[in-house]
Amino acid sequence: MEAKLSVNINKIALIRNSRGANFPNLLTVAKDCEEFGAEGITVHPRPDERHITYADIPQLKSIVTTEFNIEGYPNRKFLDMVIANKPHQCTLVPDLPSALTSDNGWDTINQKEFLKDTIAELQEAGIRVSLFINPDNILLDGALETGTDRIEFYTGPYAHDFEQDKYKAIEKYASAADHCSKLGIGINAGHDLNLKNLNFFKNNIPGLMEVSIGHALVVDALYYGLKNTIQMYQNELKRN
Ligand code: PXP
Repeated sequence: MEAKLSVNINKIALIRNSRGANFPNLLTVAKDCEEFGAEGITVHPRPDERHITYADIPQLKSIVTTEFNIEGYPNRKFLDMVIANKPHQCTLVPDLPSALTSDNGWDTINQKEFLKDTIAELQEAGIRVSLFINPDNILLDGALETGTDRIEFYTGPYAHDFEQDKYKAIEKYASAADHCSKLGIGINAGHDLNLKNLNFFKNNIPGLMEVSIGHALVVDALYYGLKNTIQMYQNELKRN
């Protein structure tokens, strides 16, 4: 099984919003990402709607033909929007409303009951759930009890440590991935993955199902173009 590439299009919405008009057109970019080889589209509406807006979601839902993944903190407004739009997957993140970007995973021990109820509600609506999480076996045991279908490893620390020592950087993730397989939890990953660190991550995390990548991919697209860039990321995911 090969890991799927889900392109996070938040940065495209950020560029659009910076001028207040509909340029670039988010729907066109999403469709083009799919045509160029993306196997999923990810969005992360934040409470201030500084990039993806709540109004974008139904429009995206109507045109995305690959996997649609909505990420975010599960307050009531977010959950109602997700359930109304029924993406294939909802990735829950524990971000504070003021967060610049996601920078930590869930505390699946202390927030177990909240997560259990939230996950059950999404699953009843037919939506697969993934929990953003740090690579830690205790937290994974907690995740199992929440009933989540998958976890998404927060790969920010991996990407940071990769620059110093990639073997050390991957250790915790490889052992947590092994634990996930034993528990029967599916594995996604995301944050700060890029053309340098993606292939090493994929090759050391057997069973990796999906990566969601936004920031570096959009920056790379400035230099290589969107089509080439998506294909370059796909090559990194496919090569051994
Ligand atoms: N996963 C989650 C939960 C995120 O919040 C983000 C950033 O929006 C990503 C993945 C993608 O991270 P990046 O933009 O660094 O590729």
